[in-house]
Amino acid sequence: GHPTPSIRPRRTPPPRTPPPPANPAPLSLLEPAAPEAPAYVAPADWQGLADAVATCTRCKLCKTRTKTVFGVGPTDAPLLVIGEGPGAEEDARGEPFVGAAGKLLDEMLKSVGRSRSSNVYIANVVKCRPPGNRDPESDEVAACRPFLDRQIELLQPKLILALGRIAAQRLLSSTAPLSKLRGPQHAYGPAHTPVLISYHPAYLLRTPSDKAKSWADLKQVHRFLAKA
Ligand code: URA
Repeated sequence: GHPTPSIRPRRTPPPRTPPPPANPAPLSLLEPAAPEAPAYVAPADWQGLADAVATCTRCKLCKTRTKTVFGVGPTDAPLLVIGEGPGAEEDARGEPFVGAAGKLLDEMLKSVGRSRSSNVYIANVVKCRPPGNRDPESDEVAACRPFLDRQIELLQPKLILALGRIAAQRLLSSTAPLSKLRGPQHAYGPAHTPVLISYHPAYLLRTPSDKAKSWADLKQVHRFLAKA
């Protein structure tokens, strides 16, 4: 008959001493590439940046906007005013603060010798109108942030004035109420640009009794820039 298949001889039992530990593999060999898309890098020149905003589809606001609202003013302005986002008139015209609130903002700036045509740059946290003027959502603010950050980097303003709770909270990544954010000087970004917070002109139109405090803030802006 057939020979019984021989049973393979047992391997030599492993030595009792544990093997030396393997060198830890570099992380890059153990883990796949980061699953998120690489961070978006906004164009680093004004024209490239404006073109990127004009054609942006980085968030859902692109589906409902009429025009993008990049910003306006001289690119060597020492003051940067930041609002929350375009409203209906801004969306139609492609320029920030051109509605009723914008008219008031222009008057406020004029009272301290400032204007968008001479020495103030005006922009928003988001460049596209949120439908129905709702507050911009976190994903929209995040998608638009590289544009605002590049604007700030290119402008190198001496001072940022953020108007209203939404702009202030988004800019400072804070949930504090406006009453807490208004008053102290804050700092933004890698250049630690000084930031002041004040009331939104649309709020002042509804609550004119707070115009006195707004005026105090404007004088603070004026004093700051006079010595900056
Ligand atoms: N309100 C804002 O915050 N920004 C504008 O551009 C217009 C109104």
